[in-house]
Parts: sequence; structure tokens; C-alpha cells
Amino acid sequence: MSSEGLHVPREKLKAKTLNLHYAISSLIEELEAVDWYRQRADDCDDEELRKILLHNAHEEIEHAAMALEWIRRNDSEFDDQLKEYLFTEGSITGKEEEATGKG
Ligand SMILES: [Fe+2]
Repeated sequence: MSSEGLHVPREKLKAKTLNLHYAISSLIEELEAVDWYRQRADDCDDEELRKILLHNAHEEIEHAAMALEWIRRNDSEFDDQLKEYLFTEGSITGKEEEATGKG
């Protein structure tokens, strides 16, 4: 259901907010699916089924990455933060201290 998870009446939301809601909800669902498939694969005692579950987990990671990229392209705050933290080396919290001047 497309309106699940809305916290205010749909007609009060800007189109951008609604589209971001769809993308964020989809990202959450894809990440949950990755977690669920991996847990089931760990618990599964049938090798062929385990391979299918892991294959499905890999597909969900691709879907999550696509949703995240859409969010990045359509929300400048996500774009800024992802540029700040993704594909970096070293301390992640140190990066935040560096960015905010707090340490
Ligand atoms: Fe998916």
C-alpha cells in the first residue's frame, strides 16, 4: 500500500516528499530483504536452496544501491552526506569530527 508509513495526510505532502517517501520505504524494504535472505541462508540445510537465497540477497543489494542512488540524486542533503562519508578510509566518526570541527 503506497500510503503506508505516512505520518501526515497525503494531500499535505509535496510531490518531492512523497517520492522520497517511496524511495526511502523501498530502500528500507530492500535492506530488510538482504538481512532476511542472509539469515535464512545461514539457517538453511539444503545447499541448492541456500544458493538461491544468497542469490536473492545479492539482487536485493543491487536494488538497495539503485534506490539509494535515486535518493542521492534527488535530495541534496543525502548527496552532501554520502559524498562526505562513502568510499572514504580511516575513522568514520573522525570524519564527522573533522567535518563539524568537534573532537
Ligand atoms: Fe528488491
